[in-house]
Amino acid sequence: MGGKQSKSKLSSSLSPLSSSAGCCGFLCNKKRKNPNSKKSKHDVEDISNEIGRNSLSSSRHSMPNYSWMDGRRFLEDSNYLLPKDDEEIDRSNTIHFLVKHVLNGNYKAPITDTMKKCLDVGSGNGAWLMDMASEFPDVSFIGVDIDLQSPSAIYPQNCQFDTCDILGGLPYEDETFDYVHCRWVICWLPREKFRFVLEEMIRVTKRGGWIEFLESNFAEVRNPGPVFKSLWNTWKEISELRRYDNHVIMTLEKILRELPVDKLSSTKISVPFGEKGEKTGEIWKGILSGAYTAMSPKWREYLNISAEQMHELIDAVLKEHDERGVHTNWYLFVGQRKFRSNDDAIANEDDTASEFEIV
Ligand SMILES: C[S@@+](CC[C@H](N)C(=O)[O-])C[C@H]1O[C@@H](n2cnc3c(N)ncnc32)[C@H](O)[C@@H]1O
Repeated sequence: MGGKQSKSKLSSSLSPLSSSAGCCGFLCNKKRKNPNSKKSKHDVEDISNEIGRNSLSSSRHSMPNYSWMDGRRFLEDSNYLLPKDDEEIDRSNTIHFLVKHVLNGNYKAPITDTMKKCLDVGSGNGAWLMDMASEFPDVSFIGVDIDLQSPSAIYPQNCQFDTCDILGGLPYEDETFDYVHCRWVICWLPREKFRFVLEEMIRVTKRGGWIEFLESNFAEVRNPGPVFKSLWNTWKEISELRRYDNHVIMTLEKILRELPVDKLSSTKISVPFGEKGEKTGEIWKGILSGAYTAMSPKWREYLNISAEQMHELIDAVLKEHDERGVHTNWYLFVGQRKFRSNDDAIANEDDTASEFEIV
């Protein structure tokens, strides 16, 4: 498929990180710290011990349970639908560098030199975390994920990767981090857990610290065609079984406005698909085609259709996206945890204090 070809080409042209060869670390249901790191005042070695709330979850004690479908590996016993394999690690690398290009950097929160500790929730292959750790060598970075796909040996000294299911809470003490980042994770959680997970992220953020989210509504496609609409109807059924929220952006905005967060801003970024979007469009096409392919084993099972039929469906929807000049929207939320402790209690009444730019 065209997407597959462009994926590997673009991965290598965009990414200074190695692809699957360097990132395949499934030793990683344990907390991992860089074996090459030396102790220094910024050493993150003992961060989890210091902050050790809720331990690093029962998953530390057992290897994750995987299943295979159509040559792709999936995490069992989890609500997460995308595969956990080398191909997905490659795709995530490409996404990382595209996002960095589109946002013109790795973050939008006004973080400063005083930042000491940063958390990436649902860190996946660790590309964002490692990139940030290189940019801020004096800051301690922790990535937490239900199933880490970050390198198990070679990564910056100021990185640590922890395993935990965030649906059970974050294993860190209150007010630990200056900055908490979370990208394309909330959309994969059951919607009744959103508020709890967001509250956890705010709990572990220092007062005056910053939170940042990047998400997109799965089906928010401008100018969709009939093939996409029919896929969308199937998606609605699949996502309902997993309790995904297809309006995650609206829900996220609503909950954030009810929590002790100030200076909340939202930015919509419209990303073109395919040739009409030039280089960005071509890369995004490769990424989305990889996403359709990644989900296809589960779709195929649900629809009870052959691999060939699924393949034809994906080709048709990609062609349709291209012809119609489709755009998808990303939404970036940035906010600051309120400073005063009594602000937490009055957050609901204090809405007017937030600036919220509706886009
Ligand atoms: C689409 S990936 C995004 C990864 C990374 N943030 C990035 O931008 O490349 C979603 C990540 O969320 C993680 N995840 C999903 N559900 C989770 C849960 N309940 N607890 C912890 N991590 C979870 C997945 O394992 C996966 O790595």
